[in-house]
Amino acid sequence: MRLHVEAGSASIGNVKIHNVARVMQLDAGHVEDTASDSGSGNIRFSRNSLYTIESELAIVIPCMNEDVSILDGVLHGVPQDAMIIVVSNSDRDNFQAECDMFEKYCSENERPGAIVHQTDEPIAQAFLAAGMPEIVQLDSTPLRIRSGKGEAMMIGVILAQLFGKTFIGFIDADNLVAGSVHEYCKVYAAGLRHALQLQSATDSNGNLDTPPRVMVRIKWNSKPKVRYGAIVFEPSGRSSIVVNKWMNRLLRAISPTAPKSLIQTGNAGEHAMSLELAMSLRFATGYAVEPFQLIDAGERLDNVDIVQVETRNPHFHDTSKGGEHIERMQVQGLSTIIYSSLTPPDIKEDLKQYLTKELPAGLDTNGIPEQARMYPAIQTLSFDAFDATLSAFDGTLRVYGDP
Ligand code: GDD
Ligand code: MG
Repeated sequence: MRLHVEAGSASIGNVKIHNVARVMQLDAGHVEDTASDSGSGNIRFSRNSLYTIESELAIVIPCMNEDVSILDGVLHGVPQDAMIIVVSNSDRDNFQAECDMFEKYCSENERPGAIVHQTDEPIAQAFLAAGMPEIVQLDSTPLRIRSGKGEAMMIGVILAQLFGKTFIGFIDADNLVAGSVHEYCKVYAAGLRHALQLQSATDSNGNLDTPPRVMVRIKWNSKPKVRYGAIVFEPSGRSSIVVNKWMNRLLRAISPTAPKSLIQTGNAGEHAMSLELAMSLRFATGYAVEPFQLIDAGERLDNVDIVQVETRNPHFHDTSKGGEHIERMQVQGLSTIIYSSLTPPDIKEDLKQYLTKELPAGLDTNGIPEQARMYPAIQTLSFDAFDATLSAFDGTLRVYGDP
């Protein structure tokens, strides 16, 4: 892979967000790496250096009642050396179909995989034993953890850690194009590699010598929509366009010399990071999870590098989830800005006015959005207790092949 990296970055506290890089070539040939410590230019990544990341990478696929044949297509785009973990919140019949399909896929392709249902009681028991009652719906019988994409991602992080991985990437299950999934995974490997070099987290042989805090966020080339029978390649998603605008305003209030539209991945559902970072971040519920990563890192964490990369492939996904779904996503994303200690009062006030005018249905009786539920950092869990509880319940975590 070859990336074109633009100079320019801005910091929120000790978190550096880098200008959007672009994919120049999906495959740059049989080449050596070029060093990427300079500010801008073209950087190529050897297949070998992508392999060193992929062999340490878990790809987590959150899935809730997507068409099983589409999930099947997504699996087919994930490079062989990354391990796939599916976290499902589907209806039981659909879940069984997902398991059957995934088992067959893993066996035919001679690769390991793991799948789990988010609301199985042993998962809730494992969180309780490990010390995170906040994620469990304590009034439910049987016990279950809360629904939401953010919650599914947390399970993915824990499993990736238990499987001994170093990096984790997330891919939605409703992607209609296996080739774009493949590009996202390659971008994860190249982007993580680049960010590690920016952080000087590797020695001269490319081996990690400090625990890295790096993240890659994908900016899709476009999000196509069908309008009057024709495909329109919209440059931004309906939620991203709003959340990015407010994120950039916040960024420029904190860092006035920041490039004007530096943040183009406020909502990036597709992103990857070092497990070191995933363990220290706090995750928020549902679709607040991705915007909140930027806020939480900026509020609390040191020495984080966030790389953004624009892909070549458009993002074709299920667009039938409706306007309410998009509005909920916008409100959840913007609420992370309203409640942040980083946000100056004038921006909070303007944002409240915007919400009152544009998204009143998502506000409470005081005219503000509910604060998105957020969880303690995953590193506060007892992994031994989580593992022991899960292992005690045979059949909850289904593992195919030998991870
Ligand atoms: N396990 C699990 N549990 N999966 C879930 C849940 C849940 O409660 N809710 C949604 N998912 C899965 C979906 O099945 C899909 O694979 C993925 O999470 C993303 O959900 P979508 O409903 O397809 O979201 P979207 O396409 O509108 O939004 C995506 O892009 C946004 C940026 O535009 C998501 O990735 C967002 O998180 C992202 O902000
Ligand atoms: Mg989708």
